[in-house]
Amino acid sequence: MNEKKQVGEKAADFVKDGMVVGLGTGSTVYYTLLKLGTFVQQGLSIRGIPSSIQTEKLALELGIPLVSFDEIEQIDVAIDGADEVSSDLNLIKGGGGALLREKIIAKAAKTFIVAADSKKMVNQLGSFPLPVEVLPFGVEMTSKYIQELGGSTKLRQKDGIPYLTDNGHYIVDCSFQDLTHPEVLEKDLNLIPGVIDNGLFVGMADIVITMNANQQIDINLRK
Ligand code: A5P
Repeated sequence: MNEKKQVGEKAADFVKDGMVVGLGTGSTVYYTLLKLGTFVQQGLSIRGIPSSIQTEKLALELGIPLVSFDEIEQIDVAIDGADEVSSDLNLIKGGGGALLREKIIAKAAKTFIVAADSKKMVNQLGSFPLPVEVLPFGVEMTSKYIQELGGSTKLRQKDGIPYLTDNGHYIVDCSFQDLTHPEVLEKDLNLIPGVIDNGLFVGMADIVITMNANQQIDINLRK
């Protein structure tokens, strides 16, 4: 059974006529976009804000109308995937490198919905390396300061050169021994000069759609 397809498609059911919709990035939200594309063909009127060039391309191919922030007051609902989801619905995101725009969109959304297959659900965050988006200038120093917070760092590479985000930044993938207080680490990382943002999304997800042990869709609401 394709769990990504099931949870991704389910998320599309939360989108109603007239909504401005934040469109996440990744292989789970791919299925949300396909479903939204079908709904649009059937007459649903929505406007999407994409979180990456990849999502922008796909949305345009599917005929989903797009807008930018200067045309809207707020986002009604944003839908995205995640790399890890803790039991208290905090997230690690950015495995696909789109964390910065994803976080801007999630923050601007009245309701932020995460679609995550059961493998993403964890008791505590931290097995998945935490992506941190950094300015290329001074990346060596920025990495050193991240290490001082307890993380080991690895500059993300693609085809033998540093991976570049849609925003022209690097990603440093970090492993932390202790991630019991993600709300503290999220802020501490962002105080380092050179850090643009990091993939901890604390207290942001309103709804997490996943699959339970009985292979049924589970909808978790933030308490
Ligand atoms: C993109 O940068 C990420 O935050 C994705 O949302 C996350 O990696 C989930 O991706 P998949 O749905 O492909 O697992």
